[in-house]
Amino acid sequence: MDAVKIALAKGRLADDAITLLGKIGINFNDYSKKSRKLIFKDDCEKIKLVFVKSSDIPVYVEKGAVDIGIVGKDVLLENEADVYEILNLNVGKCKICVAGFKNYERIHSRKLIIASKYPNIAKKYFNKKGIFNEVIKLNGSVELAPILGLSDVIVDIVETGTTLKENGLVVLEEIHDISARLVVNKVSLKTKNEEIEKIISGLERIV
Ligand code: PRP
Repeated sequence: MDAVKIALAKGRLADDAITLLGKIGINFNDYSKKSRKLIFKDDCEKIKLVFVKSSDIPVYVEKGAVDIGIVGKDVLLENEADVYEILNLNVGKCKICVAGFKNYERIHSRKLIIASKYPNIAKKYFNKKGIFNEVIKLNGSVELAPILGLSDVIVDIVETGTTLKENGLVVLEEIHDISARLVVNKVSLKTKNEEIEKIISGLERIV
C-alpha cells in the first residue's frame, strides 16, 4: 500500500499540525523547521508529509497528488475545491475581517477600493452587501494599502491584532471565523479508507 500523503504549509499551522499528528502516534523525527526538504516520512514509513504553499493545498488534494490536506478555512473559502472537508482541527484560530482607519465613514457611500490577499472572499462579501467595489489583489503586507492610499480598506486575517494596531488600523467588520481544517481527496477516502479513517478518528478524539 502506498504511503498516505499529507500536505501542510510551512509556518505556524505546520507546528500545530505536527503536534496534533504526534499526539496520535504519527511522528516525523527527521523533520526540522530549518530544513529545505519538502517531503518527510514518518517513523513507520506509512505517512509522507509534503510541504506545499498553503494556497496550493486545495488543488493538490482535489487532484489526488496528496490524500489529505491540513489547511486554514480562509484558504478553502478563497480557493474553492472539490474535496471533503472532514474535520475542524480547532487550531490556527483567527478571523477574516474588513480593516481600515478607525471611524472609516465612506464604507457604504461610493465605490469601495479593497486590497486583499483574498480577492474572492472580499468580492463576494461586498457584492452580497450590494456595495459597488473594486478589489486589488496583493500578496502580503496588505496593511500598507490604506496607509499609502492604494485602497480604502483591506480584507485580511487578524490573529492577535498586533499588525493592525502597530499600523494604526482597526477591525471594521468581521467576515468569518477561521481555523485549520482536515480535507481529504474524494477517491483516496475510498481507496485508502482504513488508513485515512484511522487518522480521522484519532484526530477527532483529541480536537
Ligand atoms: C498575516 C496577515 C496579517 C497578520 C495578522 O500576515 O495577513 O498581516 O498575519 O496577524 P496578527 O493579527 O497576529 O498581527 P503574514 O504574517 O502571513 O504575512 P504577510 O503579510 O507577508 O502575508
